[in-house]
Amino acid sequence: MPLKSWRFAALAFFCISVAGYALWAYGSGVQRVPVHPAMIAVFDQRRALITTHAIAASLALLLGPFQFVDRLRARAPRLHRGLGYTYLVAGVAVGGSSGILLARHSFGGFVSHLGFGLLACLWMITGVMATRAALQRRFEDHRVWMIRNFALTFAAVTLRLYLGLFFAAGLRFEDFYPAVAWLCWVPNLIAVEWWQPRRSSTPPRPGLSV
Ligand code: HEM
Repeated sequence: MPLKSWRFAALAFFCISVAGYALWAYGSGVQRVPVHPAMIAVFDQRRALITTHAIAASLALLLGPFQFVDRLRARAPRLHRGLGYTYLVAGVAVGGSSGILLARHSFGGFVSHLGFGLLACLWMITGVMATRAALQRRFEDHRVWMIRNFALTFAAVTLRLYLGLFFAAGLRFEDFYPAVAWLCWVPNLIAVEWWQPRRSSTPPRPGLSV
């Protein structure tokens, strides 16, 4: 299904907003926003890690939406390929490996550690699967894996939407945060599987290049 312009605008708006927030709040190596004191203590001890994570993952959020623009892909395949490698290496690989290291210290105990840890692993695995498919010129598989991968990148957006929703509902951060470590990505994956049924034997489209 081609990405309609209003869908692209909505996607880009959310991604740019959250990446902008992350870069402003963490990108300079200084804690600019108040979060839970236990989280600040963890971030203060791992300042380089959280800064690297915020910058790399924000890059993935900023580049991701443009990779789904059909016209851009068809007209500038080299640009698509270059941005794709940047997204996967500088964004997903760096953001995911720093995410794994942070998951061990995430707020909310074992449930949060497992939720964020699994998210980071799946983020990198889907990236590897997408790259493999592209290199083998299995472009339909590449498309499906990249949609799954970006649904996981988008966890950064859904996480912050849930935080706002639960705070507005008057819930305590301590009570809902472990659930958010799962809620931010599991429904995203289910949604893309449901919305994007597999077109198993479609041959590669001419003009579509990765
Ligand atoms: C998709 C895989 C991701 C994983 C596994 C992951 C993992 C984590 C973990 C474990 C933390 C620490 C949370 C805590 O201490 O409780 C964290 C914090 C953070 N992450 Fe990620 N992250 C991912 C994606 C992203 C993306 C795409 C962004 C881009 C904006 C991002 C930006 C941040 C920021 C700014 C923080 C600091 C805390 C906050 O503002 O919520 N992360 N991440």
